[in-house]
Amino acid sequence: MLKNKLNIDNSSELANVKEKITKKKALELFDKKMLETLETGTFETLKYIHKFLFDEIYDFAGKTRNENIAKGNFRFTPVMYLNPALENIDKMPQNTLDEIIEKYVEMNVAHPFREGNGRSTRIWLDLILKKELKKVVDWNKVDKDDYLLAMERSPIRDVEINNDLINVYPQPRNKTNILDLGCGKKFHSNLINSNISC
Ligand SMILES: Nc1ncnc2c1ncn2[C@@H]1O[C@H](COP(=O)(O)OP(=O)(O)O)[C@@H](O)[C@H]1O
Ligand SMILES: [Mg+2]
Repeated sequence: MLKNKLNIDNSSELANVKEKITKKKALELFDKKMLETLETGTFETLKYIHKFLFDEIYDFAGKTRNENIAKGNFRFTPVMYLNPALENIDKMPQNTLDEIIEKYVEMNVAHPFREGNGRSTRIWLDLILKKELKKVVDWNKVDKDDYLLAMERSPIRDVEINNDLINVYPQPRNKTNILDLGCGKKFHSNLINSNISC
């Protein structure tokens, strides 16, 4: 289990507290319009989002990881290649939906932080979509299992995210759509029951 500032040593308790805090923080980000002034599609902005969401929880909030990490069978970018990868991702174009999805997939492959990449990178993606296409993802309509499967496959083939999963909508219907940071009711029951993070 990761060392945390809250001194919680039970992983399901940590997951619950973390979910509450990051949702509160995400709401603050949007309510105070803190995101509007940030440059979209850069690692600096992702760092800012991560630091803001996780500052009360982890010492490494907003800091790139210094250990190699994997999920399932996939090992994210090795630490020794992480900084050059992030510099290259910054330069990737973001003019069309295809380009934006490609950039999102590369940022996920980089997985710059020790933990909390999913939540912060989905907000980062939404900012790009909003600015470039005047659209956002309605995360309430995204099924958690489909989403995770698509992300698992994305390093090889990203069309699933693009075509089947991330339907972009002109505007969020309400604030909760971003706060659900992945995947509606099903996501919540899964999170609580199985302690999977999305
Ligand atoms: N096997 C995998 N291959 C590629 N990406 C994955 C895989 N499993 C999960 N992911 C991505 O990583 C995210 C979880 O990363 P993590 O750092 O734990 O963030 P969080 O704690 O916010 O959920 C998922 O939301 C998904 O986007
Ligand atoms: Mg996690």
